[in-house]
Amino acid sequence: MMGAIFFSGKYGSTAQYSYWISEATGLPVFDIKDVRADPSEYDFLLLGSSILYFKLTNRKWVRKNINVLRGRTKILFSVSGAGPSNKLNRWVANSLPPDFLSEVKHIALRGKLDHSKVSWWVRIILWIGSLFNRSADASRDERYGFDYMDKSTIEPIVLQVKELQRARLLIGED
Ligand SMILES: Cc1cc2nc3c(=O)[nH]c(=O)nc-3n(C[C@H](O)[C@H](O)[C@H](O)COP(=O)(O)O)c2cc1C
Repeated sequence: MMGAIFFSGKYGSTAQYSYWISEATGLPVFDIKDVRADPSEYDFLLLGSSILYFKLTNRKWVRKNINVLRGRTKILFSVSGAGPSNKLNRWVANSLPPDFLSEVKHIALRGKLDHSKVSWWVRIILWIGSLFNRSADASRDERYGFDYMDKSTIEPIVLQVKELQRARLLIGED
């Protein structure tokens, strides 16, 4: 038994981080939309999810698979415009059941928003959001887009995976 990455994203940033983590750890990657994405085959799971409209995009998949996911070692990496903050922790807490989150280590990564890649109505929603955003930086990001993609930020995740892989080798599971 070993680990795998199950990601949920819409515009490519969560997929990109997942492939970078896979490259560094050797773990297989599955888009949760892929019917072959079966978490029951793995004993530790990296759950990658973008945040859109203040919610994790993998929340429905997690609830659907919650019985399989429970009891396995899990790392959740969120990908969002906002950096690590109480606000971000609240969005995560509002997306998934608290008893599930208590089993999960959460690591926040920052993504990318390219206005030329979203539909015109999403651009309008983001523009309206920017008018009401109390943070000047977040408002600017919503209005003009941003690119916070940074491969080096996967390092804490890679270290934890290597730790898990080492522990499994020691107890002779692989
Ligand atoms: C429609 C839309 C809604 C978004 N909502 C949020 C949000 O609520 N909070 C946030 O921090 N970032 C938000 N973002 C930024 C995304 O989290 C960011 O672009 C991320 O990289 C998207 O990941 P993906 O490329 O894997 O879909 C939003 C982006 C879009 C296009």
